[in-house]
Amino acid sequence: MPNRMKIRIEPWTEADLALLYRLNAPEMLKYLGGPESEEQVIARHNRYLEIGRKGTGRMFSIVLHPDLEAVGNIGYWERTWQEERIYEIGWGVLPPFQGRGIAASATAATLARASGERKHRYIHAFPSIDNPASNAICRKLDFIFIGECAFEYPPGNFIRCNDWRMDLTK
Ligand SMILES: CC(C)(COP(=O)(O)OP(=O)(O)OC[C@H]1O[C@@H](n2cnc3c(N)ncnc32)[C@H](O)[C@@H]1OP(=O)(O)O)[C@@H](O)C(=O)NCCC(=O)NCCS
Repeated sequence: MPNRMKIRIEPWTEADLALLYRLNAPEMLKYLGGPESEEQVIARHNRYLEIGRKGTGRMFSIVLHPDLEAVGNIGYWERTWQEERIYEIGWGVLPPFQGRGIAASATAATLARASGERKHRYIHAFPSIDNPASNAICRKLDFIFIGECAFEYPPGNFIRCNDWRMDLTK
């Protein structure tokens, strides 16, 4: 196992559009419907900024410490799930930096932020059933496995996901 890397999560800013373009690669979006058009990436970037402004969640870049090189993104946002208001969490780490514990560390840091808000009790992750790394992160961080579910994401693309849930009050 390569060296574990020190990371920080930083609130998403205007300057992170360049990072989002780098994350918009076929190998990054294999389980998420494939790369987006330039217009869609810009719209996604604006949504990330808006989530922070409205307080309906938080998006972050993941930066290496101490160099502050941006290597991924992570965040949480509100959604209604089975008639309940919850947070959903999602993450991505650029291929050259994968396999070094970066996503797991960033997820732990992000859960601490969400928990500190005391706004929603539950946060869910919905990785594709075929995404071993994301499912491993949920298992490792003690999310509870609820079951499989189906999602249409993006519109027209049907995926089977695992529903993992964390109680933020514990
Ligand atoms: C999912 C992703 C963020 C993981 O990033 P990462 O920084 O490589 O993850 P970590 O190094 O923290 O690894 C987490 C765990 O997954 C395990 N893992 C990684 N790849 C794996 C694989 N192919 N099979 C099984 N386990 C795997 C690791 O062993 C690690 O567990 P461990 O610490 O107990 O050994 C990264 O692969 C990615 O960005 N993928 C594309 C985008 C994506 O799928 N996003 C998620 C949508 S829900």
